[in-house]
Amino acid sequence: MIGNLNHVAIAVPDLDAASAQYRDALGATVSAPRDLPEQGVRVVFVELSNSKIELLHPLGAESPIAKFLQRNPSGGIHHVCFEVDDIIAARDRLIDNGARTIGSGEPAIGAHGKRILFLHPKDFSGALIELEEA
Ligand code: CO
Repeated sequence: MIGNLNHVAIAVPDLDAASAQYRDALGATVSAPRDLPEQGVRVVFVELSNSKIELLHPLGAESPIAKFLQRNPSGGIHHVCFEVDDIIAARDRLIDNGARTIGSGEPAIGAHGKRILFLHPKDFSGALIELEEA
């Protein structure tokens, strides 16, 4: 059911420093920062030929990334995102298989303007999984 790996998201304590590191030391193409207030994040996209890295930084004190950085002060992998063709069909299949969504279970609109859902890390070996409708 899942398709390509869309991105790996990394929470970072210093967005400018992390962007510069991916651009200068790793030689990647890095976007300008973008604020996504509904998700409480400021994000930088690192473009790879086969996927993306999202560098996430908290936007506001209520940001889920702020809590993550309290537990992981030097940053860390926050989630992985898989593409699906039909997010409602994917959600229903996952729920039938005992997985839980985070929040209402209704898709939100993600950073790329597409429908997304998050799945509970306790159901996936401790990894937070995002689904994005391709
Ligand atoms: Co994501």
